[in-house]
Amino acid sequence: MVGVKALRICDIASADYIGREVTLRGWVYRLRKQKGNTFVLLRDDRGSIIQCVFPSYKIDDITRESSVQISGIVKQDARAPEGGIEIAGTNLQVFQVSEKDYPLGEYQSAELLLDNRHLALRTRKMIEIAKIRASMFKFLRQWFSENDWMEVTPPLVVKGSVEGGSTLFKLNYFDDVAFLSQSAQLYLEAMIFSLGPVWSLTSSFRAERSRTVRHLAEFSHLECEAPWVSLRDLLQIQENLVRYTIDKTINERQESLKVLKIDSSQFKELAEPFRKMTYDQAIGGLISLDFQVTEVDGKARTIRWGDDLNIDSERELTRQMTTPLFITGYPTKVKPFYVKENPDQLETSLTFDLLGPRGYGELSSGGMREDNLPALSNRIRQAGLNSVDYGWYLDLRKYGSVEHGGFGMGIERLLRWFIGIEDIKDCVLFPRTMSRISP
Ligand code: 4AD
Ligand code: MG
Repeated sequence: MVGVKALRICDIASADYIGREVTLRGWVYRLRKQKGNTFVLLRDDRGSIIQCVFPSYKIDDITRESSVQISGIVKQDARAPEGGIEIAGTNLQVFQVSEKDYPLGEYQSAELLLDNRHLALRTRKMIEIAKIRASMFKFLRQWFSENDWMEVTPPLVVKGSVEGGSTLFKLNYFDDVAFLSQSAQLYLEAMIFSLGPVWSLTSSFRAERSRTVRHLAEFSHLECEAPWVSLRDLLQIQENLVRYTIDKTINERQESLKVLKIDSSQFKELAEPFRKMTYDQAIGGLISLDFQVTEVDGKARTIRWGDDLNIDSERELTRQMTTPLFITGYPTKVKPFYVKENPDQLETSLTFDLLGPRGYGELSSGGMREDNLPALSNRIRQAGLNSVDYGWYLDLRKYGSVEHGGFGMGIERLLRWFIGIEDIKDCVLFPRTMSRISP
């Protein structure tokens, strides 16, 4: 690796190193004194861990998380806790002795870990999640690159809402008011006329007032948009992208999956076509179960046609499923102003959501966009939006409008389902929610 010369633990795992002296840098992950020996578990800068055994007299008064450089002979030892190799230490040099009040012990409450996320990034769980996340980013990007989509960077400070005004973060913008972007979609739509199929991976922001296990105030949003696609094409693109990313990530992150105790055989069925259901079928199924929803006034009633699906109904729909489920044809009124109505079934839209199996629910939303100028102007008005803010967006329907569509997928949602973690906050390194903006 250019510029980085230090050896890592993964480098010395090969047989070539047995019996050789090596020098490793890292941090003291755990420390255990036993008879005349001190066992130092060393964590390197990629989170790998190796046991180093020193005669106790050679070790000064070091503490957990001290930064150190260790030299010693690589030995094979089946009893070694990590990987069957350990280091018979000969020299230990300390960069800094960590202060004794390191706030994280072995068992901590979720809140304490969140309050100390800058340090909790050193825990095994967060290290492995971060690695899986990095692989996902890599393979999502790779899929788009291999399939000739162009990566673009839309602005994040914007004038208009995309996904409804209630979740907009407002900010002072010089002498004006602006918002943090909820979605790059409208900008991606502007790009397809000269750049063709485009995609972006940015932060999106939602001032979500609800505290749920699947909402963040800032999340990593992968979005794509292409001219002359159909709803069917979009489902295929979404399905291929997810399958490719999961397959490659499983392959690259065997070790991380093992540490997190994730059985990758549960993803075998991803090779099959994803399940598909219309909104009508989904609602029909929920009605037959007498599925209850709560009205704003707190009263419960059976779900009915026209209700949006939410975290609970999606859980019910996907609880027993082992592959992702596409739901198509949502009522136009539960979707934002830009969706295209289905000319063959009025009041429903050419849209889809992809739901994660085993109850995980919404992973992505997408569909065809309204490309007709009067229809779109009407919808903007009906949504109570200020058409001045959407003047440029309407231009796209004036000058060479074409059928087009795309979708957006939350990476933390994808990761949450993949690693089977309930709380989405564990799928991002520094979570932002209504009650948390630090560290
Ligand atoms: O369903 P959403 O709101 O759709 C859009 O923003 C479209 N404009 C996307 C597009 O077509 N280009 O958001 C898309 C996805 C959701 O399915 C979900 O995975 C994720 O983004 N998402 C969130 N993830 C975490 N926290 C939140 N608060 C999220 N809101 C949406
Ligand atoms: Mg959605």
